[in-house]
Amino acid sequence: MTAALDLQGVACTFVSKDQPGQRYTAVQDVNLTVAAGEFVSVVGPTGCGKSTLLNVAAGLLNPSVGAVQVFGQPLAGINRRAGYMFQAESLMPWRTAQANVAAGLQFHGVPQAQAMQQANDWLHRVGLGGFGDRYPHQMSGGMRKRVSLAQTLVLDPDIILMDEPFSALDIQTRQLMENELLDLWQAKKKAVLFITHDLDEAIALSDRVVVMSAGPGSHPMGDFTIDMDRPRDVAEIKTTARFLALHTAIWAVLREEVLKGYAQQLKVA
Ligand SMILES: Nc1ncnc2c1ncn2[C@@H]1O[C@H](COP(=O)(O)OP(=O)(O)O)[C@@H](O)[C@H]1O
Ligand SMILES: [Mg+2]
Repeated sequence: MTAALDLQGVACTFVSKDQPGQRYTAVQDVNLTVAAGEFVSVVGPTGCGKSTLLNVAAGLLNPSVGAVQVFGQPLAGINRRAGYMFQAESLMPWRTAQANVAAGLQFHGVPQAQAMQQANDWLHRVGLGGFGDRYPHQMSGGMRKRVSLAQTLVLDPDIILMDEPFSALDIQTRQLMENELLDLWQAKKKAVLFITHDLDEAIALSDRVVVMSAGPGSHPMGDFTIDMDRPRDVAEIKTTARFLALHTAIWAVLREEVLKGYAQQLKVA
């Protein structure tokens, strides 16, 4: 079956910010596929190139080397099959929750009334029915994340790209959001590429966890199948023996890379 997303031999080289004239290869030799309907998480040390890879998958960044295929087609320009949820807040402060969710549809030419109706439906689905007329500053961080989630999903993308979307949330809100994401994903079975530095989160959510090495030239160095039943409750699953066994196995690989990444950051600082 053709993969939803297929990165083949991808490398990304940047002009170094610290040493002008020097080049820095963040990621190299990256082969990464996400099957249709598969939930894949990528974990790795800070600065190893996780966001870089997501930008490549989104078509926001052209790899220096390698190719990207989306459902068997070479990716050129923005990935129109994908929706992107960033780590940072991305709501427009001058628009209400409903108008924020409707914005993407309107950019795609959906008539105003229809866009607002669909936005309203999605706000209900993420537990924000009745909050459509709130502005971002009138909502909690968790509520704003729900709006962002609705904003991404309302466009019904076949591929969902998420860059540490819940990292700024408190642990309870985060678990609620993770469970909600799994429910929505379970219902629609889209391909998900989920970036996180949190191994617990990666294991609890995913079908597969990919571990990136420390940079420079970061690449996948472990690929673990998460063979745990669904539907899952992210809090409950963490107490199971299988979860702990997987965590131990993956952490054995990740730990070294985190230490290497940390040492490099100290060197730079
Ligand atoms: N546009 C850019 N210009 C220069 N360096 C960059 C750029 N984007 C990322 N980098 C560098 O590439 C490395 C990987 O960054 P990033 O993908 O943001 O890492 P992560 O998301 O894993 O923390 C970092 O060293 C970062 O400084
Ligand atoms: Mg990042």
